[in-house]
Amino acid sequence: MRVSYDFRDRVVVVTGGGHGIGAGLCLEVAKAGGVAISADIAPDPSLATKSERIQVEKVDVGDGQGLQRFLESVIVQHGHIDSFVQAAAIQPRQLIQEMSAETWLRVMDINLNSLFYAAQILIPHMTQRHYGSIVTFSSGLATTGWAKASAYATTKAALVALIKSIAKETLPYGVRANIVAPGITDTDLFTGPNSQDEQEFFRVRGGGVGTVDEVVPLLMFLISDASQSLTGALLSRDLIIHPQDV
Ligand SMILES: NC(=O)c1ccc[n+]([C@@H]2O[C@H](COP(=O)([O-])OP(=O)(O)OC[C@H]3O[C@@H](n4cnc5c(N)ncnc54)[C@H](O)[C@@H]3O)[C@@H](O)[C@H]2O)c1
Repeated sequence: MRVSYDFRDRVVVVTGGGHGIGAGLCLEVAKAGGVAISADIAPDPSLATKSERIQVEKVDVGDGQGLQRFLESVIVQHGHIDSFVQAAAIQPRQLIQEMSAETWLRVMDINLNSLFYAAQILIPHMTQRHYGSIVTFSSGLATTGWAKASAYATTKAALVALIKSIAKETLPYGVRANIVAPGITDTDLFTGPNSQDEQEFFRVRGGGVGTVDEVVPLLMFLISDASQSLTGALLSRDLIIHPQDV
């Protein structure tokens, strides 16, 4: 791929940055010269051995106050946060009548409320600097729904409204907020919740299954100056194109 980015002096916080798409993004940010902070409830220490520009932190984004304290500590340590990518998400599979209120609320806290808490720190910080990019993830399930995935699907729909509202509030201050529906991607979040039959459905009839390497370039675009005129956008990868096959 003949695309290159210069992320020197850029600080990028990636929640859910321990695995899957978030981890792939951390590696790419570091490769481009930036500092990537991989914040995850299950951190992968091996990431830090792959680049000295990757900082690994254990953070539970479901604890809103803890997340806010973490972001404040990053600002103190590095002086600024240029981009915040919220990849952390969970998808427990249970019928609505069988899901406990505790599980429902935990999904809301991790997948949705964490962006609200993060934004309370990020918006004043970024608008004051007139620079910053916030990115989160929706999902095809936001509009189709999915049996036993009601909580996850609900958060992924609500995130569209939240990120677009953030975009409206920050527009006058040069800060951007966008959302990606990455399409089915071969990570733990795909293989964990989906049965073999569901996985087969997605592979054969549901538009295909993509890879982390195919999603990361879209995120690099959104957190780079290449997308400086783009805010409030939903980038939806409904059909999977594998560049190597084209
Ligand atoms: N994989 C897909 O098919 C797919 C499809 C649509 C959308 N997405 C979205 O892409 C994003 C990245 O997902 P992924 O596919 O890389 O999944 P993944 O499971 O590989 O990564 C999610 C990460 O979030 C972390 N996490 C979970 N709970 C956390 C918490 N409380 N605090 C901090 N970290 C926590 C996990 O440890 C994990 O590292 C998610 O927002 C997901 O909803 C993925």
